[in-house]
Amino acid sequence: MSFKARQIGPCFAAEVEGIDMRKPLSPEDVKAIHAGMDEYAVLVFHEQFIDDEQQLAFTRSLGELERSVGASLRAPEDYRLPTTFADVSNLDKEGKPFAREDRRRLFAIGNRLWHSDSSFKVVPAKYSLLHARVIPSKGGNTEFADMRAAYDALDDETRTQIEELICEHSQIYSREQLGFTDLTDEERARFKPVGQRLVRVHPSTGRKSLFLASHAGTIVGWPVPEARLLLRDLIAHATQKEFVYAHEWRVGDLVIWDNRRTMHRGRPFPAHEPRDVRRTTLVGDGPTVPQHV
Ligand code: OGA
Ligand code: MN
Repeated sequence: MSFKARQIGPCFAAEVEGIDMRKPLSPEDVKAIHAGMDEYAVLVFHEQFIDDEQQLAFTRSLGELERSVGASLRAPEDYRLPTTFADVSNLDKEGKPFAREDRRRLFAIGNRLWHSDSSFKVVPAKYSLLHARVIPSKGGNTEFADMRAAYDALDDETRTQIEELICEHSQIYSREQLGFTDLTDEERARFKPVGQRLVRVHPSTGRKSLFLASHAGTIVGWPVPEARLLLRDLIAHATQKEFVYAHEWRVGDLVIWDNRRTMHRGRPFPAHEPRDVRRTTLVGDGPTVPQHV
């Protein structure tokens, strides 16, 4: 069976059949997946009962891996997964859910705010691949917003206003919104803001998208409160129902999303239940702006 996609979201997102991630991909499969990503931005694959090695092999056949080390509050000796993974679970090294008050958990649930992966890095992520191993009894959906459709729906005045704007992104800004401010000096230095264009052009489709995330905390040259109000308005616009696909996880699902033209967020679930989801990530094509040093 070969690659077949069926749209499931309002203006993007498709469900795919005909790919078995336990086996090496043919060059045609690789091409079809990239073409599917360019068309739909989010691809959902069901019943992929793969292990870490198979997830890594599948990911590597689509591009170069991004390392996620240093992006969370887990110390390297606390890692549950190889450093080639972003551990998006709520589990400690022993596989037990973090206590509700654990600061590693409270930092990690910042991913329940709308964001694009690694927008806080100079080179933001290309694709993220999230695989569900254990899911909670309820809740825990992941929602996606189509930032290309959101851009297309802006009025001309707003498009002109934002075209050249540069935002500064940091995990400090997203956590600050949740009242999580007890970061050490080392963590603050590690999470130093980086610049990102607010409007970006997709390298393979040539289409423009909003490049937003809750990590965006300032706009270069703007007063902070005014910048935050514009960013809030744009995120509210981009996450209206007509631009959102909500994924209800089943064990064995693997979802790929293009961070260059989507945002996503996790939804709440019972804190004491394990949710084991594992992310591999492809590194982006380059910075979206020259960085000031
Ligand atoms: C991620 C992420 C949300 C979720 O994997 O990057 O934000 O629902 N996940 O787990
Ligand atoms: Mn994320």
